[in-house]
Amino acid sequence: MQKLAIQGGTKLRGEVRISGAKNAALPIMCASLLTADELHLSNLPDMHDVKTMEKLLAQMGVQISAASQAATFNGSQVDKLEAPYDMVKTMRAAILVLGPLVARFGEARVSLPGGCAIGSRPVDLHIKGLQAMGAEIHIEHGYIHATAKRLKGAHISFDLVSVTGTENLMMAATLAEGETVLENAAREPEVVDLANCLIAMGAKIKGAGSDTITISGVAKLHGASHRVMPDRIESGTFLVAAAATGGNITLTEARADILDNVLDKLREAGAKIVVSTGRINIDMQLRPTAVNLRTAPYPAFPTDMQAQFMALNTIAEGSAIVVETIFENRFMHVQELRRLGAQIDVEGNTAIIKGVAQLEGATVMATDLRASASLVIAGLVAQGETIVDRIYHLDRGYEHIEAKLVKLGANISRIK
Ligand code: UD1
Repeated sequence: MQKLAIQGGTKLRGEVRISGAKNAALPIMCASLLTADELHLSNLPDMHDVKTMEKLLAQMGVQISAASQAATFNGSQVDKLEAPYDMVKTMRAAILVLGPLVARFGEARVSLPGGCAIGSRPVDLHIKGLQAMGAEIHIEHGYIHATAKRLKGAHISFDLVSVTGTENLMMAATLAEGETVLENAAREPEVVDLANCLIAMGAKIKGAGSDTITISGVAKLHGASHRVMPDRIESGTFLVAAAATGGNITLTEARADILDNVLDKLREAGAKIVVSTGRINIDMQLRPTAVNLRTAPYPAFPTDMQAQFMALNTIAEGSAIVVETIFENRFMHVQELRRLGAQIDVEGNTAIIKGVAQLEGATVMATDLRASASLVIAGLVAQGETIVDRIYHLDRGYEHIEAKLVKLGANISRIK
């Protein structure tokens, strides 16, 4: 199993290019199932989840020709309408093939995802939405088996804001008969990126980015070209790493307009932030000040940045309260951060972090994607060596993270 060895204490400096967004790339790749024409995608990040999605789509019969950071998806020969357990268990986003398959082929068999490190994460909202659109759904042998002649437009109000739930139903509705209205829809920028790609494919979608999305179904979608948006969570992760180390870095090919809450919290922690077209510079001269935060659906503070800010708070001046409202078990990093000397108390969905002057290097274990990123940040500031074990989580969702950090001056290497 691969590990990262980090010698802490170096301030990050320099420029880093932000990759395409994982959480936009995955649903957009699934949109290729909605048409028999070619979908050309660029700015695809080089990471395991994107490779897993390529493998899944290829198994279904999508022909994929890939070049560096770009790929063409041809869904004219799709003949296997199934996402097997092996794939879905390693990547929950595989559920995103469900809506497109039922919409275009009238049938899908997708494994139920089951639990994961950060909580139970059910998919009931995806299922209820498709049922409202007229799909027959049976759960058999751990699989969701969905059938429909042609989906019908429906008025669907989500009980909870769900990002992939919104994406699955928005994709399904593009080929349904009549109009679908999604209420209490996710407003995440990745939903907007997917909508833009679908619109380029001929879909009729209004309101993406607001909590009400209206989709008028069309008989057929066609091919298109689309550039995947920059990754706001990767952006935030590098900014927090720079802030924690007292560094000065510039992100390139990034978008500040979708990072408001994260940038505000970094300013509150004492960072100076300058934004220009495609670039975000952060300069941190002082020891960070502790910042309270509460995760919630976009545009509020993202749950995918909670662990990284927790790492920042461990070495900040003062105490902070962090409330996680999206996932019930997203404090797996706390025990590991404690191994580095962090002072954190957890009660239910609330963590109280008392900043310490210095963390000390130790061996820690990555438990999920963003928890792993928080351990890397903690390792960058800890005194001595930190070994981060089980970094396959990190490789799932960050493009060449250690190479990028090395370019910024970090002393980090991969142990194979
Ligand atoms: C997506 C992101 C993930 C991010 C999360 C929240 C992708 C590929 N992943 O995950 O990185 O952390 O949004 O911003 O985009 N829920 C239900 N029933 C459902 C669906 C969701 O109860 O059918 C609950 C979940 O358990 C969770 C909450 O709703 O508590 C939000 O989850 P959701 O937005 O669906 O997360 P994902 O789309 O899986």
